[in-house]
Amino acid sequence: MKKNFNSVVRMMAEAAGYLWEKGWAERNGGNISCNVSQYKKLFEGISPLSVELDGGVDVPALAGALLLVTGTGTRMRDVASDPMANMAVIRICDDGRHYVIVAERPVRPTSELPSHLAIHNYFLQSGSPCRAVMHTHPTELVAMSHYAPFLEKDVLGTLLRSLIPETYIFCPKGLGIVPYALPGSQKLAEKTLEKLRSHDVVLWEKHGVLAVGKDPVEAFDMIDILNKSAQIYVRARAMGFVPAGLTPEQMEELRKSFIPF
Ligand code: 13P
Ligand code: ZN
Repeated sequence: MKKNFNSVVRMMAEAAGYLWEKGWAERNGGNISCNVSQYKKLFEGISPLSVELDGGVDVPALAGALLLVTGTGTRMRDVASDPMANMAVIRICDDGRHYVIVAERPVRPTSELPSHLAIHNYFLQSGSPCRAVMHTHPTELVAMSHYAPFLEKDVLGTLLRSLIPETYIFCPKGLGIVPYALPGSQKLAEKTLEKLRSHDVVLWEKHGVLAVGKDPVEAFDMIDILNKSAQIYVRARAMGFVPAGLTPEQMEELRKSFIPF
């Protein structure tokens, strides 16, 4: 069991390293969480280091769950090189609202915990196979979120999906836009969850992106694909032209060939 838990820790570290290498994780930018409830037994003997802390949102389906979460203020490059010194293990209390830190080191979880908790709660309530949540600051996508016309309903998602076939194939539900809200706020968590119900990835206006996956590397891939499209758009504009994008016929052909619904 310890071996399997360690492999989750290693994958969190691997994903954190990608964020740093991509240049999306300045200072403490970004955070990752993973539901590791199947390893509860490993933490049973460890007495909570903290009093019960308020998670900021009600998450009844998570009562008793164990989450591995990057620490607030920690650098993704440090998570990559020394994961357990830079991550918190938290157990959600039976009231589905508070949590305690149960790891050996008293690392406090990310300030974006309300969004992470709300989404993990949704995974359990909806029967989703996803167990990982990732938030990061991909430069090109954040730059595009500063342009109001892109934020109109379905505009940016449709544009990005037309720039390279992979984006359409792997992000068929596209990009949901959350208007600017205070980082770490309950409002940001609520709006994010709302958009995630019908989209693959969520863009936080003038801030960053949040994606989910069965594991942290899968969540990273979703953001990587979308940001690749954003880079293609930015490069085309820098070369002085507006990219043509795949035609509706080409998109339809992709849909029929690759998307099973
Ligand atoms: P934390 O260091 O609290 O995870 O915050 C980073 C961040 O990107 C906030 O949006
Ligand atoms: Zn952020």
